[in-house]
Amino acid sequence: MRHLDIILLQQFYSETDTEVIAQLVAHLYQGDILLAVQEALTWLQGTWGFAVVHQLHPDQIVVASKDSPVTVGIDLLGGQAFIASDRKAFGQQALTVVRLQNNDCALVKATGITLWREGKLHTPQAVDWQGIPTDDLGHKAGYAHFMWKEIMDQPQSIMQGLEGRFEACARHVLLSELETLKEQLLGVKRLVFLGCGSSYHAGQIGAALCEEMLQLPAQAEVASEFRYRTPLIEGETLAICISQSGETRDVIAACQEAQRLGALVVALCNVNHSTLEHLACATVSVRAGAEVSVCATKSFTSQVVTIVLLLLHLATVKGIRSARMDQLMQGLQGLTLAVETVLAQAPAVAACAGEARRFSRFFFLGRCYMAMACAEAALKLREVGYADVYALPSGEMKHGAIALVDSSTLVIGFCGHAHVRKQMYSNLMEVQARGASVVLCSPEDEEMRSELWWGRFVFPANDDVLDPIMYVIFGQMFAYHYALQSGFLIDCPRNLAKSVTVE
Ligand code: AGP
Repeated sequence: MRHLDIILLQQFYSETDTEVIAQLVAHLYQGDILLAVQEALTWLQGTWGFAVVHQLHPDQIVVASKDSPVTVGIDLLGGQAFIASDRKAFGQQALTVVRLQNNDCALVKATGITLWREGKLHTPQAVDWQGIPTDDLGHKAGYAHFMWKEIMDQPQSIMQGLEGRFEACARHVLLSELETLKEQLLGVKRLVFLGCGSSYHAGQIGAALCEEMLQLPAQAEVASEFRYRTPLIEGETLAICISQSGETRDVIAACQEAQRLGALVVALCNVNHSTLEHLACATVSVRAGAEVSVCATKSFTSQVVTIVLLLLHLATVKGIRSARMDQLMQGLQGLTLAVETVLAQAPAVAACAGEARRFSRFFFLGRCYMAMACAEAALKLREVGYADVYALPSGEMKHGAIALVDSSTLVIGFCGHAHVRKQMYSNLMEVQARGASVVLCSPEDEEMRSELWWGRFVFPANDDVLDPIMYVIFGQMFAYHYALQSGFLIDCPRNLAKSVTVE
């Protein structure tokens, strides 16, 4: 057992764990900041990603990383260096970018970077960032907020996700990222989708589609739960870890756990070169483009599209061919047009969201895939609108939540699926009879006249598994305008971070 000769006489000025590192480095410092950090690292447990500066060494920054992203950008011509958790922070600067790996420690100067890996000097490897369009590194493109820009980006981001992967005429899907895994995919007997927040909601759609279309057992699980329970992962399980950032701590831990239990792990990430990408056997890029707003919008819809492609690819590898697959491919073909139809209703959604501020409680109700869309739409309104919002499969209402319904309640019904529309209408009538106001979102239906509802939106019917994309986009626009008209912060809501790199 080693003993650290520290008598903590120094006063701690905050309650954050980071201060412990600063105090430790200060205690070990004997004139060389790098040596002090390297010694401090031998005492640390847990995860970290930090940068240390010292007033006596203004030209030096020492950085270290373990299970937390640290990226260094060097501008050799300009004599500048930048450090961030995400390369996007460097904007369009032409930099040599180095990503630290686990347990790396580096000395950064304006003239370059000296990297230590496993105690030895290591030649840093610059990351190839050519894949990122420079105009997609975080500009509002004239919009007031990133969130609105990213909502409006969706026809384009969805198209980007399909490009070169899906040939509509040939009814053929190919994900080149999975080419090397053909053999393993052939043997897959079960799927598990892991993610947090919006990524988890996308996984729920994936699991339901997998059972519907491939008849393979599948489940979606919140990554923070999966990592701590005792999941039954039999051989031939494909674990799909979904993360916009690829840096969410719980998803990374769930990925490691799935790997330890013998699953084949494929990542679905939007940000390239992420920690998750390094861990997984293969990564399918979500291709939504840079998403800056804390509230996930286009990354979610692109995740759903990518999952659909992945499952179609899996079906092809397994030699499965069905009418349902053809139908889904036809749906993919009509998707951007359907999305544009929803976006075109922005002024009406803005008016409805403004009026809705008079209610104190909100419910999103749906069934089947629409229930998953409800969960995602509710998360948006909670995140940026700070509203008291619930999302439920509508059949569950009468098992408890209906007790909350009164005249201060607004219920938004996502009635996208024809086969459960009758049940949905009857659930909406039930809440209306108890004083709630109802916004009905559904395809055209003559029986459901507008005057029956407090609000009415008509969306086209495309495909059951893709239609949630349209309803979620309605939810995104509703949340944005609710927050905007309430005067709330949009892109950086309180208490939230874009990527949750801690537990
Ligand atoms: C979504 O709007 C949220 N910001 C949040 O739930 C997010 O989806 C979650 O933290 C997961 O992030 P990831 O996709 O980067 O792993």
